Amino acid sequence: MEQKEQWGSRSGFILAAVGSAIGLGNIWRYPYVVYENGGGAFLLPYLIALFTAAIPILLMEYAIGHKKRGSAPLSYKRLSDRFEWIGWWQVLVSFVIITYYMVIIGWAASYTYFSMGTQWGDDTQSFFLSQYLNVGEDFWSFGGIQWQILIPVILVWALVYWVLHRGVNRGIELASKILMPLLIVLLIIFTIRAITLPGAMDGLDVLFTPDFSKMLNTDVWFAAYGQVFFSLSLGAGIMITYSSYLKKKSDLANSGMIAGLANSGFEFLAAIAVFGALGFLAVQQNVAVTEVVSSGPMLAFVVFPNIINAFPSLNSLFGVLFFGTLVFAGFTSAVSLLEPGISAFKEKMNISRKAAVNWICGLGLLVSIAYTTRSGLSLLDIVDNFVNKFGILFSALVAMILIGWVGKQLNPLRDHINSVSDIQVGKWWIVMLKFISPLILSYILISGTISEIN
Ligand code: PFF
Repeated sequence: MEQKEQWGSRSGFILAAVGSAIGLGNIWRYPYVVYENGGGAFLLPYLIALFTAAIPILLMEYAIGHKKRGSAPLSYKRLSDRFEWIGWWQVLVSFVIITYYMVIIGWAASYTYFSMGTQWGDDTQSFFLSQYLNVGEDFWSFGGIQWQILIPVILVWALVYWVLHRGVNRGIELASKILMPLLIVLLIIFTIRAITLPGAMDGLDVLFTPDFSKMLNTDVWFAAYGQVFFSLSLGAGIMITYSSYLKKKSDLANSGMIAGLANSGFEFLAAIAVFGALGFLAVQQNVAVTEVVSSGPMLAFVVFPNIINAFPSLNSLFGVLFFGTLVFAGFTSAVSLLEPGISAFKEKMNISRKAAVNWICGLGLLVSIAYTTRSGLSLLDIVDNFVNKFGILFSALVAMILIGWVGKQLNPLRDHINSVSDIQVGKWWIVMLKFISPLILSYILISGTISEIN
């Protein structure tokens, strides 16, 4: 058995945790979710979800991994033999996500290249759907491998594989240390450009003008919880795995606060950049901002190329900047989405890290080919929606119930956090995890399921 791997420093862990959190969810997902769910009014459900559920669960996952020092299944097993399955469920969730997540990074990598000379032309929608994705007429029209998508996807897989092969310290930590600062600089440059464009303020108005009527809609709450959990990489075994690599004496509460706030700050900035750019496009096309936003997930690949086309100068450069930001943000998250599977397999099968990396990446690459077919986009939409609601939210709810009610382990976990942290976690943490969050989440999941069925 190899020795347990470790982060080189606490800042390395924080950067890796932030690198996992900041991903496609912050740039590709957050702006359209905010837009679809009431603009400024989304902020309140979002903040409630962040403080009553996401940050407490983040700390719980840190505490489990750090105290039990294993992969998600092993850590849960060490809490109680009856809990191991939830760890495997989380491993499965992260694995399902990575298989389509890589494909979106592959698209972004292609678009970084297409940005040079704005190769998507004027009709960016038909470029994306017909020329690039070659979307089929029927849902089940897999239509063979689309090499123009598969090749960049394989390339991204190869790079992620290489980082994971190098290990926790020389791979994940090093990649996060290089990519995260770069990412922040790129986003800041892009945001400054976006909000100084003519019309940007109209876009921000749409972002910040709340539509309170939407707040009574459970779907908005569903979306807020879904977004915060996805964005902070919760319920997928990632934070348990990452914190199991921390040294014994490491401040957990402080790291959790930093990761939570950095992630939300980043996505807030990304939303400002995106909406500023949308306002600019609306002015160029002489329409209302609400009309330039196409259906959610296509924002990045249809609307953004349009925006880049309309830029007054340096179009290619800003295209490379935007899509490059997506690629870098997605990259460190992709690495983190694979680590739960790698560590779980390594421990369960008693194999080396490298062997586990080979298996998980090999299997992942094979599955992700399904999303590079002509049905890929529709498939991706369905799986993303499903795994987000019933994979992540469900797993977080079950974890809270198991730990809070079945195993009654919240108190010892809180003592654990407090024994290593400067900031002391109060009783509120237990109240949130035992009562408030499980109640809200159960309500959202049940009513969401009912509305999904109808
Ligand atoms: N947090 C990352 C993102 O927002 O893109 C990646 C991610 C991790 C997404 C874990 C979903 C998840 F369950």
